[in-house]
Amino acid sequence: MSETTLVVGPAGLWDAEALGDVAAATFPLACPPGTAPDDIEAFLAAMLSAERFGEYLGDPDRIVLRAAEDGEIVGYAMLHVGTPEDPAIAEAVGLSPAVELSKLYVLPGRHGSGVAAALMRSALEHAAAAGGAGIWLGVNQHNTRAQRFYTRSGFERCGTKTFRVGAELHDDFIMRLRFRSPGPPGPAPRPGSRRAPGGSPGR
Ligand SMILES: CC(C)(COP(=O)(O)OP(=O)(O)OC[C@H]1O[C@@H](n2cnc3c(N)ncnc32)[C@H](O)[C@@H]1OP(=O)(O)O)[C@@H](O)C(=O)NCCC(=O)NCCS
Repeated sequence: MSETTLVVGPAGLWDAEALGDVAAATFPLACPPGTAPDDIEAFLAAMLSAERFGEYLGDPDRIVLRAAEDGEIVGYAMLHVGTPEDPAIAEAVGLSPAVELSKLYVLPGRHGSGVAAALMRSALEHAAAAGGAGIWLGVNQHNTRAQRFYTRSGFERCGTKTFRVGAELHDDFIMRLRFRSPGPPGPAPRPGSRRAPGGSPGR
């Protein structure tokens, strides 16, 4: 049986539809148990539709990265360059210039496979290339799998914030990874894990 080929890199406008599909399949996984389906639907329609991805892909302050196996998108990440609008979040983040890792989602069948680590490597490289002093993110306080992944990738908790999903306000941790000059540290390799094949740009 032939091996699948993983390629990670910037997405294009033509990916908007497929990114919306992956987002619809993966966003509910990041919500705490008991989140109302109507609230998830409202968030998907408002923030993660194909139309919204078309806007994100055309926004000069955002970088959308796709991970594709044999041409099929199996995960994506999005970076947002700029200081957080909320001063309390900006203070907790404490990075200038700041880059937010505003999304990192992988299809459930590909969790634990190295796809997320490859997306993270690419995200760190792009954040450093964009001039970030580091990178930060928000993660739901119940999403322990993602928190462990981020901790292994070098992030540490630096605060809390809320995140609106439809009519509900969820509690997030803020996590941050400060870059040491001249570039981003790579995530620590997991013992015995398969290193995903390349495709992400070199530093
Ligand atoms: C978050 C995500 C990108 C991480 O990728 P992944 O391939 O699952 O990550 P890994 O399997 O390499 O690592 C996950 C960690 O969680 C652990 N884990 C596995 N299953 C778990 C579970 N059910 N509960 C808690 N932790 C779990 C793993 O052991 C690993 O921890 P370790 O590094 O201490 O060994 C991926 O799970 C995902 O897309 N989740 C759904 C969307 C999401 O939550 N995105 C993040 C939004 S902030």
